[in-house]
Amino acid sequence: MEIKVKKLGIIGCGAIGSDIAEAVDKGNINVLLYACFDIDRKKYDALAAKLKNVKPVFLEAEELMKNCDLVVECAHKDAVNGIFKMAIRHNRDIMFLSAGGVLENTDLIEEARKKKINVFVPSGAVVGIDGLDAAKYSGLRKVTLITRKPPKAFKGVKSLIDKGINVDEIKTETTVYDGNARDAVKDFPQNINIAATLSLAGVGAEQTHVKIIIDPFISNNIHEIIVEGDFGRFRAITENLPSPNNPKTSYLTSLSAIVLIKKIVEPIHIGT
Ligand SMILES: NC(=O)c1ccc[n+]([C@@H]2O[C@H](COP(=O)([O-])OP(=O)(O)OC[C@H]3O[C@@H](n4cnc5c(N)ncnc54)[C@H](O)[C@@H]3O)[C@@H](O)[C@H]2O)c1
Repeated sequence: MEIKVKKLGIIGCGAIGSDIAEAVDKGNINVLLYACFDIDRKKYDALAAKLKNVKPVFLEAEELMKNCDLVVECAHKDAVNGIFKMAIRHNRDIMFLSAGGVLENTDLIEEARKKKINVFVPSGAVVGIDGLDAAKYSGLRKVTLITRKPPKAFKGVKSLIDKGINVDEIKTETTVYDGNARDAVKDFPQNINIAATLSLAGVGAEQTHVKIIIDPFISNNIHEIIVEGDFGRFRAITENLPSPNNPKTSYLTSLSAIVLIKKIVEPIHIGT
């Protein structure tokens, strides 16, 4: 795969957008970062001030879409519908970090496919998606995500508050969700992206099994993906550290987007 990308655009100048822009700035991705957009102009200003070698212009989303060959969305799941439609309108290749938003707009994936628009969703905060991707070309029997997080990660989660669960009182490993990915992303929106990516890459949100555990003995998030199929079985475990730019975002997410952009714009592909 080599798509001729002359100009890259970024929508969302937060943690992931900044990590990607900084990777271009350091020369780690051989592409022109032409434009950035954020609904909060101050986020763009702060990012632009950090960049030493590249000077992306500030363009509103629609203008950015018109002027760039590949646009990377790293904003918010609610922005996905509008950005997806813009990409389809202007025939632009698009990468989404807000995988949960893509799961809510699968009809647009079909529209994009008809127009031969490339839609990319990086593997994000977990490893194992490459294996799942390969395995699905034969029979897949079961896809499971087991997410383990410390109590502080669940503070303010509405579905737990509604059940009268006070996360500060949890002293032993406690399973708070065991069901399919479709309901998991509703009850635990902070897990939305991993469950969504897994669903999109594998057997869909209804068939993907999700277990969420509050673990008071860990300090960082641990995600385990178990895939069973005709190929055999694999277990992929990721122990994430947070992004230096946002404690709620796993650093691996930014890195997975950076490496996917590199694969798109540079011609050597190993392990894909
Ligand atoms: N795929 C994964 O595994 C994964 C992992 C972590 C985060 N994410 C998702 O990636 C996205 C970005 O994450 P982040 O950590 O960089 O978040 P962040 O909060 O650090 O940055 C998001 C930025 O987007 C801007 N923004 C919000 N809505 C916008 C809109 N409609 N148009 C333009 N800009 C908008 C915000 O002002 C903010 O600057 C989020 O949706 C997040 O849920 C995905």
